[in-house]
Amino acid sequence: MNNLFYTIIVLICLSACSSNSREKLEFDEQQMLDYTVEKVIASLSSMSCGDSLPRNIYSGQTDWNLVGINDWCSGFWPGILWYAYEESKNPDILASAQGFTEPLGGVLEVPVDNHDLGFMLYSSYGNGFRLTGNPAYQDVILTSADSLATLYNSKVGTILSWPSMREKMNWPHNTIIDNMINLELLFWASKNGGSQHLYDIAVKHAETCMTTLIRPDYSTYHVAVFDTIDGHFIKGVTHQGYADNSMWARGQSWGIYGYTMAYRETGDERFLDLATKLADRFLERLPEDGIPYWDFDDPKIPDAPKDASAACVAASALLELSSFMDNENLKAGYKNAAIKMLSILSTDAYLANGKNQAFLMHSTGHYPNGSEIDASIIYADYYYIEALTRLKKINAGKRLH
Ligand code: GLY
Repeated sequence: MNNLFYTIIVLICLSACSSNSREKLEFDEQQMLDYTVEKVIASLSSMSCGDSLPRNIYSGQTDWNLVGINDWCSGFWPGILWYAYEESKNPDILASAQGFTEPLGGVLEVPVDNHDLGFMLYSSYGNGFRLTGNPAYQDVILTSADSLATLYNSKVGTILSWPSMREKMNWPHNTIIDNMINLELLFWASKNGGSQHLYDIAVKHAETCMTTLIRPDYSTYHVAVFDTIDGHFIKGVTHQGYADNSMWARGQSWGIYGYTMAYRETGDERFLDLATKLADRFLERLPEDGIPYWDFDDPKIPDAPKDASAACVAASALLELSSFMDNENLKAGYKNAAIKMLSILSTDAYLANGKNQAFLMHSTGHYPNGSEIDASIIYADYYYIEALTRLKKINAGKRLH
Protein backbone atom coordinates (compact mmCIF):
# COMPACT_ATOMS: atom_id res chain seq x y z
CA MET A 1 0.00 0.00 0.00
CA ASN A 2 1.15 3.50 -0.81
CA ASN A 3 2.80 4.89 2.37
CA LEU A 4 0.91 8.20 2.40
CA PHE A 5 -2.41 6.43 1.94
CA TYR A 6 -1.49 4.00 4.71
CA THR A 7 -0.58 6.84 7.10
CA ILE A 8 -3.94 8.49 6.44
CA ILE A 9 -5.80 5.23 7.19
CA VAL A 10 -3.80 4.81 10.42
CA LEU A 11 -4.57 8.37 11.53
CA ILE A 12 -8.29 7.84 10.89
CA CYS A 13 -8.22 4.55 12.80
CA LEU A 14 -6.36 5.99 15.76
CA SER A 15 -8.56 9.04 15.96
CA ALA A 16 -11.52 6.64 16.10
CA CYS A 17 -9.96 5.08 19.21
CA SER A 18 -10.16 8.40 20.98
CA SER A 19 -12.24 11.28 19.73
CA ASN A 20 -9.16 13.45 19.49
CA SER A 21 -5.92 11.53 19.15
CA ARG A 22 -3.96 14.35 20.86
CA GLU A 23 -6.48 14.59 23.69
CA LYS A 24 -5.01 13.95 27.16
CA LEU A 25 -6.92 11.04 28.70
CA GLU A 26 -7.42 11.05 32.46
CA PHE A 27 -5.86 8.01 34.12
CA ASP A 28 -4.05 7.81 37.43
CA GLU A 29 -1.32 5.21 36.86
CA GLN A 30 0.17 5.99 40.29
CA GLN A 31 -3.03 4.93 42.01
CA MET A 32 -2.99 1.63 40.12
CA LEU A 33 0.71 1.06 40.81
CA ASP A 34 -0.06 1.58 44.51
CA TYR A 35 -2.83 -1.03 44.14
CA THR A 36 -0.41 -3.55 42.61
CA VAL A 37 2.18 -3.02 45.35
CA GLU A 38 -0.46 -3.42 48.07
CA LYS A 39 -1.70 -6.64 46.48
CA VAL A 40 1.84 -8.00 46.16
CA ILE A 41 2.50 -7.31 49.86
CA ALA A 42 -0.78 -9.00 50.81
CA SER A 43 0.01 -12.10 48.68
CA LEU A 44 3.55 -12.37 50.03
CA SER A 45 2.22 -12.47 53.59
CA SER A 46 0.85 -15.95 52.92
CA MET A 47 3.67 -17.30 50.70
CA SER A 48 7.15 -18.69 51.19
CA CYS A 49 9.88 -17.97 48.68
CA GLY A 50 10.99 -21.00 46.71
CA ASP A 51 10.22 -23.13 43.71
CA SER A 52 6.41 -22.98 43.78
CA LEU A 53 5.13 -20.01 41.82
CA PRO A 54 1.70 -18.47 41.14
CA ARG A 55 0.03 -19.26 37.83
CA ASN A 56 -3.77 -18.89 37.98
CA ILE A 57 -6.86 -18.42 40.13
CA TYR A 58 -10.16 -19.86 38.95
CA SER A 59 -13.56 -18.35 39.57
CA GLY A 60 -14.59 -18.98 43.18
CA GLN A 61 -10.99 -19.43 44.38
CA THR A 62 -9.13 -16.77 46.34
CA ASP A 63 -5.48 -17.86 46.30
CA TRP A 64 -2.98 -18.49 43.57
CA ASN A 65 -2.64 -22.04 42.23
CA LEU A 66 1.10 -22.74 42.16
CA VAL A 67 3.35 -24.41 39.59
CA GLY A 68 6.96 -25.57 39.53
CA ILE A 69 9.95 -23.84 37.98
CA ASN A 70 9.66 -25.69 34.65
CA ASP A 71 6.19 -24.33 33.92
CA TRP A 72 6.29 -21.72 31.12
CA CYS A 73 4.71 -19.17 33.49
CA SER A 74 7.29 -19.54 36.28
CA GLY A 75 9.07 -16.24 35.53
CA PHE A 76 6.08 -13.94 35.75
CA TRP A 77 5.66 -13.84 39.54
CA PRO A 78 9.33 -12.98 40.13
CA GLY A 79 8.97 -10.42 37.33
CA ILE A 80 5.96 -8.85 39.08
CA LEU A 81 7.99 -8.69 42.29
CA TRP A 82 10.83 -6.91 40.47
CA TYR A 83 8.42 -4.32 39.06
CA ALA A 84 6.80 -3.91 42.50
CA TYR A 85 10.27 -3.43 44.00
CA GLU A 86 11.18 -0.91 41.27
CA GLU A 87 8.03 1.04 42.16
CA SER A 88 8.16 0.78 45.97
CA LYS A 89 11.87 0.28 46.81
CA ASN A 90 10.49 -1.92 49.60
CA PRO A 91 13.38 -4.13 50.91
CA ASP A 92 11.00 -6.98 51.82
CA ILE A 93 9.75 -7.10 48.23
CA LEU A 94 13.39 -7.08 47.06
CA ALA A 95 14.14 -10.08 49.27
CA SER A 96 11.10 -11.90 47.90
CA ALA A 97 12.01 -11.03 44.30
CA GLN A 98 15.43 -12.59 44.89
CA GLY A 99 13.92 -15.52 46.75
CA PHE A 100 11.51 -16.39 43.93
CA THR A 101 13.97 -15.65 41.10
CA GLU A 102 16.95 -17.71 42.20
CA PRO A 103 15.31 -21.18 42.23
CA LEU A 104 14.51 -20.66 38.52
CA GLY A 105 18.16 -21.25 37.69
CA GLY A 106 17.25 -24.93 38.03
CA VAL A 107 15.45 -24.64 34.69
CA LEU A 108 18.86 -24.81 33.02
CA GLU A 109 19.67 -28.16 34.62
CA VAL A 110 17.42 -30.01 32.17
CA PRO A 111 17.78 -29.95 28.34
CA VAL A 112 15.74 -27.18 26.70
CA ASP A 113 12.49 -28.56 25.32
CA ASN A 114 10.59 -25.42 24.30
CA HIS A 115 11.01 -21.76 23.35
CA ASP A 116 9.72 -20.40 26.67
CA LEU A 117 13.10 -19.70 28.30
CA GLY A 118 12.68 -15.98 27.68
CA PHE A 119 9.31 -15.82 29.41
CA MET A 120 10.77 -17.83 32.29
CA LEU A 121 14.25 -16.39 32.74
CA TYR A 122 14.18 -12.93 31.15
CA SER A 123 11.05 -11.82 33.06
CA SER A 124 12.72 -12.97 36.30
CA TYR A 125 16.52 -12.77 36.01
CA GLY A 126 16.35 -10.12 33.30
CA ASN A 127 14.39 -7.70 35.44
CA GLY A 128 16.51 -8.68 38.42
CA PHE A 129 19.72 -7.84 36.59
CA ARG A 130 18.24 -4.58 35.28
CA LEU A 131 17.53 -3.45 38.84
CA THR A 132 20.47 -4.93 40.77
CA GLY A 133 23.29 -5.53 38.28
CA ASN A 134 23.96 -8.85 40.04
CA PRO A 135 26.60 -10.59 37.84
CA ALA A 136 25.33 -14.03 38.84
CA TYR A 137 22.01 -13.12 37.20
CA GLN A 138 23.84 -12.11 34.02
CA ASP A 139 25.50 -15.55 33.89
CA VAL A 140 22.12 -17.27 34.07
CA ILE A 141 20.70 -15.08 31.28
CA LEU A 142 23.71 -15.72 29.04
CA THR A 143 23.51 -19.48 29.60
CA SER A 144 19.79 -19.49 28.92
CA ALA A 145 20.26 -17.58 25.65
CA ASP A 146 22.80 -20.16 24.45
CA SER A 147 20.38 -22.89 25.44
CA LEU A 148 17.47 -21.28 23.55
CA ALA A 149 19.71 -20.88 20.49
CA THR A 150 20.10 -24.67 20.24
CA LEU A 151 16.48 -24.79 19.01
CA TYR A 152 17.33 -22.65 15.98
CA ASN A 153 17.03 -24.33 12.57
CA SER A 154 19.15 -22.52 9.97
CA LYS A 155 17.28 -24.11 7.03
CA VAL A 156 14.02 -22.58 8.24
CA GLY A 157 15.45 -19.48 9.85
CA THR A 158 13.49 -19.73 13.10
CA ILE A 159 13.62 -21.23 16.56
CA LEU A 160 11.65 -24.44 17.04
CA SER A 161 8.96 -23.49 19.54
CA TRP A 162 7.54 -26.87 20.53
CA PRO A 163 9.76 -29.93 19.97
CA SER A 164 7.00 -32.15 21.41
CA MET A 165 4.60 -31.09 18.63
CA ARG A 166 6.85 -32.46 15.89
CA GLU A 167 5.42 -35.93 16.39
CA LYS A 168 2.24 -35.21 18.34
CA MET A 169 0.83 -32.87 15.66
CA ASN A 170 3.05 -33.81 12.73
CA TRP A 171 4.45 -30.26 12.69
CA PRO A 172 8.06 -31.05 11.66
CA HIS A 173 9.40 -27.59 12.57
CA ASN A 174 6.94 -25.25 14.26
CA THR A 175 7.23 -21.63 15.34
CA ILE A 176 4.56 -19.75 17.24
CA ILE A 177 3.91 -16.02 17.34
CA ASP A 178 4.51 -16.06 21.13
CA ASN A 179 8.12 -16.97 20.36
CA MET A 180 8.74 -13.37 19.24
CA ILE A 181 8.85 -12.35 22.91
CA ASN A 182 11.70 -14.75 23.64
CA LEU A 183 13.93 -13.03 21.09
CA GLU A 184 14.48 -10.30 23.69
CA LEU A 185 16.61 -12.73 25.68
CA LEU A 186 18.80 -13.35 22.60
CA PHE A 187 19.14 -9.65 21.76
CA TRP A 188 20.04 -8.80 25.34
CA ALA A 189 22.59 -11.61 25.61
CA SER A 190 24.26 -10.66 22.31
CA LYS A 191 24.84 -7.13 23.65
CA ASN A 192 25.91 -8.15 27.14
CA GLY A 193 28.68 -10.70 26.71
CA GLY A 194 27.05 -13.27 24.43
CA SER A 195 27.87 -14.00 20.79
CA GLN A 196 26.88 -12.17 17.61
CA HIS A 197 25.22 -15.43 16.53
CA LEU A 198 22.44 -14.79 19.08
CA TYR A 199 21.68 -11.43 17.50
CA ASP A 200 21.81 -12.84 13.98
CA ILE A 201 19.38 -15.68 14.66
CA ALA A 202 16.97 -13.35 16.48
CA VAL A 203 16.91 -11.04 13.44
CA LYS A 204 16.48 -13.96 11.04
CA HIS A 205 13.68 -15.41 13.16
CA ALA A 206 11.81 -12.08 13.13
CA GLU A 207 12.31 -11.77 9.35
CA THR A 208 11.09 -15.30 8.64
CA CYS A 209 7.98 -14.80 10.77
CA MET A 210 7.12 -11.60 8.86
CA THR A 211 6.33 -13.65 5.77
CA THR A 212 4.87 -16.74 7.42
CA LEU A 213 3.11 -16.02 10.73
CA ILE A 214 1.76 -12.68 9.50
CA ARG A 215 -1.17 -12.83 7.08
CA PRO A 216 -1.69 -10.28 4.27
CA ASP A 217 -4.35 -8.48 6.37
CA TYR A 218 -1.89 -8.14 9.29
CA SER A 219 -3.65 -10.60 11.52
CA THR A 220 -1.45 -13.45 12.77
CA TYR A 221 -1.43 -17.21 12.67
CA HIS A 222 -0.66 -18.82 15.99
CA VAL A 223 1.62 -21.50 14.55
CA ALA A 224 3.73 -21.66 11.39
CA VAL A 225 4.67 -25.17 10.27
CA PHE A 226 7.84 -25.68 8.21
CA ASP A 227 9.59 -28.50 6.40
CA THR A 228 12.81 -29.47 8.13
CA ILE A 229 14.56 -30.70 4.97
CA ASP A 230 14.34 -27.63 2.71
CA GLY A 231 12.89 -25.22 5.28
CA HIS A 232 9.82 -24.17 3.27
CA PHE A 233 6.70 -22.85 4.99
CA ILE A 234 4.01 -25.55 4.84
CA LYS A 235 1.01 -23.92 6.52
CA GLY A 236 -0.31 -21.62 9.23
CA VAL A 237 -2.49 -23.23 11.88
CA THR A 238 -3.77 -22.59 15.37
CA HIS A 239 -3.28 -24.31 18.68
CA GLN A 240 -4.86 -21.93 21.18
CA GLY A 241 -7.13 -19.94 18.88
CA TYR A 242 -10.63 -20.56 17.52
CA ALA A 243 -9.59 -21.66 14.02
CA ASP A 244 -6.52 -21.77 11.80
CA ASN A 245 -7.58 -18.55 10.09
CA SER A 246 -8.97 -16.73 13.12
CA MET A 247 -7.29 -13.89 15.02
CA TRP A 248 -6.39 -15.28 18.44
CA ALA A 249 -6.28 -12.19 20.67
CA ARG A 250 -3.17 -12.91 22.69
CA GLY A 251 -1.29 -14.05 19.61
CA GLN A 252 -1.96 -10.71 17.95
CA SER A 253 -0.75 -8.88 21.06
CA TRP A 254 2.42 -11.02 21.21
CA GLY A 255 3.03 -9.93 17.63
CA ILE A 256 2.66 -6.22 18.42
CA TYR A 257 4.91 -6.56 21.45
CA GLY A 258 7.48 -8.72 19.67
CA TYR A 259 7.94 -6.55 16.59
CA THR A 260 8.04 -3.35 18.65
CA MET A 261 10.80 -4.90 20.75
CA ALA A 262 12.58 -6.19 17.62
CA TYR A 263 12.61 -2.61 16.29
CA ARG A 264 14.01 -1.31 19.59
CA GLU A 265 16.82 -3.87 19.45
CA THR A 266 17.69 -3.55 15.75
CA GLY A 267 16.51 -0.14 14.51
CA ASP A 268 15.11 -2.03 11.49
CA GLU A 269 12.23 0.08 10.13
CA ARG A 270 10.56 -3.01 8.63
CA PHE A 271 9.87 -4.26 12.14
CA LEU A 272 8.46 -0.90 13.26
CA ASP A 273 6.23 -0.73 10.21
CA LEU A 274 4.92 -4.23 10.88
CA ALA A 275 4.36 -3.49 14.58
CA THR A 276 2.14 -0.53 13.65
CA LYS A 277 0.16 -2.61 11.17
CA LEU A 278 -0.39 -5.40 13.71
CA ALA A 279 -1.42 -2.79 16.29
CA ASP A 280 -3.85 -1.11 13.91
CA ARG A 281 -5.45 -4.45 13.05
CA PHE A 282 -5.85 -5.20 16.77
CA LEU A 283 -7.27 -1.75 17.61
CA GLU A 284 -9.72 -1.59 14.72
CA ARG A 285 -11.24 -4.94 15.75
CA LEU A 286 -11.61 -4.25 19.49
CA PRO A 287 -15.15 -4.55 20.82
CA GLU A 288 -17.05 -1.60 22.25
CA ASP A 289 -15.66 -1.93 25.78
CA GLY A 290 -12.06 -1.98 24.53
CA ILE A 291 -11.03 -5.40 25.91
CA PRO A 292 -10.75 -8.24 23.39
CA TYR A 293 -12.64 -11.48 23.47
CA TRP A 294 -10.24 -14.43 23.65
CA ASP A 295 -10.42 -14.78 19.84
CA PHE A 296 -11.69 -11.98 17.61
CA ASP A 297 -13.46 -14.52 15.39
CA ASP A 298 -15.27 -16.70 17.91
CA PRO A 299 -18.84 -16.88 16.51
CA LYS A 300 -20.18 -16.93 20.09
CA ILE A 301 -19.21 -13.25 20.54
CA PRO A 302 -20.64 -11.39 22.51
CA ASP A 303 -21.20 -14.50 24.66
CA ALA A 304 -17.55 -15.53 24.55
CA PRO A 305 -14.99 -15.03 27.33
CA LYS A 306 -12.72 -12.03 27.34
CA ASP A 307 -8.95 -12.13 27.53
CA ALA A 308 -7.69 -9.37 29.79
CA SER A 309 -4.15 -10.71 29.36
CA ALA A 310 -4.22 -9.85 25.64
CA ALA A 311 -5.21 -6.29 26.57
CA CYS A 312 -2.35 -6.07 29.10
CA VAL A 313 0.26 -7.30 26.62
CA ALA A 314 -1.08 -4.97 23.93
CA ALA A 315 -1.22 -1.96 26.28
CA SER A 316 2.39 -2.45 27.32
CA ALA A 317 3.45 -2.86 23.67
CA LEU A 318 1.46 0.17 22.47
CA LEU A 319 3.16 2.38 25.05
CA GLU A 320 6.57 1.39 23.72
CA LEU A 321 5.32 1.69 20.13
CA SER A 322 4.08 5.23 20.83
CA SER A 323 7.56 6.16 22.06
CA PHE A 324 8.97 5.36 18.58
CA MET A 325 6.52 7.53 16.65
CA ASP A 326 7.85 10.79 15.16
CA ASN A 327 4.38 11.88 14.11
CA GLU A 328 2.77 13.50 17.18
CA ASN A 329 -0.73 12.29 16.28
CA LEU A 330 0.44 8.69 15.98
CA LYS A 331 2.44 9.00 19.20
CA ALA A 332 -0.60 10.30 21.09
CA GLY A 333 -2.95 7.86 19.35
CA TYR A 334 -1.05 4.72 20.38
CA LYS A 335 -0.50 6.09 23.89
CA ASN A 336 -4.19 6.94 24.25
CA ALA A 337 -5.21 3.51 22.97
CA ALA A 338 -3.04 1.95 25.70
CA ILE A 339 -4.41 4.30 28.36
CA LYS A 340 -7.95 3.48 27.28
CA MET A 341 -7.30 -0.25 27.77
CA LEU A 342 -5.56 0.32 31.11
CA SER A 343 -8.47 2.50 32.26
CA ILE A 344 -11.00 -0.20 31.49
CA LEU A 345 -8.84 -2.90 33.10
CA SER A 346 -8.66 -0.65 36.17
CA THR A 347 -12.41 -0.66 36.79
CA ASP A 348 -14.43 -2.97 39.04
CA ALA A 349 -15.34 -5.01 35.97
CA TYR A 350 -11.74 -6.30 35.69
CA LEU A 351 -9.94 -5.57 38.98
CA ALA A 352 -9.82 -8.48 41.40
CA ASN A 353 -9.65 -6.10 44.39
CA GLY A 354 -10.57 -8.19 47.47
CA LYS A 355 -12.01 -11.09 45.47
CA ASN A 356 -8.70 -12.91 45.00
CA GLN A 357 -4.92 -12.43 45.20
CA ALA A 358 -4.45 -11.35 41.59
CA PHE A 359 -4.51 -7.81 40.21
CA LEU A 360 -6.98 -8.69 37.45
CA MET A 361 -9.73 -11.14 36.47
CA HIS A 362 -11.16 -12.32 33.15
CA SER A 363 -8.22 -13.73 31.20
CA THR A 364 -8.36 -16.79 28.98
CA GLY A 365 -5.39 -19.14 28.72
CA HIS A 366 -6.19 -22.09 26.46
CA TYR A 367 -9.83 -22.06 25.39
CA PRO A 368 -9.72 -25.08 23.02
CA ASN A 369 -8.18 -27.11 25.84
CA GLY A 370 -10.83 -25.93 28.29
CA SER A 371 -8.19 -24.54 30.63
CA GLU A 372 -7.88 -21.15 32.30
CA ILE A 373 -11.11 -19.78 30.85
CA ASP A 374 -12.24 -16.50 32.43
CA ALA A 375 -9.59 -16.81 35.14
CA SER A 376 -6.97 -14.63 36.80
CA ILE A 377 -3.68 -15.53 35.10
CA ILE A 378 -0.24 -14.46 36.22
CA TYR A 379 0.94 -13.07 32.87
CA ALA A 380 -2.00 -10.66 32.73
CA ASP A 381 -0.77 -9.22 36.02
CA TYR A 382 2.85 -9.12 34.80
CA TYR A 383 2.08 -7.12 31.66
CA TYR A 384 -0.38 -4.91 33.58
CA ILE A 385 2.26 -3.79 36.09
CA GLU A 386 4.80 -3.48 33.27
CA ALA A 387 2.40 -1.25 31.30
CA LEU A 388 1.70 0.93 34.36
CA THR A 389 5.44 1.26 34.96
CA ARG A 390 6.02 2.21 31.32
CA LEU A 391 3.25 4.79 31.41
CA LYS A 392 4.69 6.37 34.55
CA LYS A 393 8.13 6.59 32.88
CA ILE A 394 6.69 8.09 29.69
CA ASN A 395 4.73 10.68 31.66
CA ALA A 396 7.87 11.56 33.61
CA GLY A 397 9.81 12.00 30.35
CA LYS A 398 12.06 9.01 31.14
CA ARG A 399 13.41 6.44 28.70
CA LEU A 400 11.73 3.04 28.76
CA HIS A 401 14.99 1.14 28.22
N1 GLY B 1 2.65 -18.63 25.32
C1 GLY B 1 1.40 -19.24 25.52
C2 GLY B 1 0.25 -18.33 25.67
O1 GLY B 1 0.25 -17.18 25.32
O2 GLY B 1 -0.73 -18.84 26.15
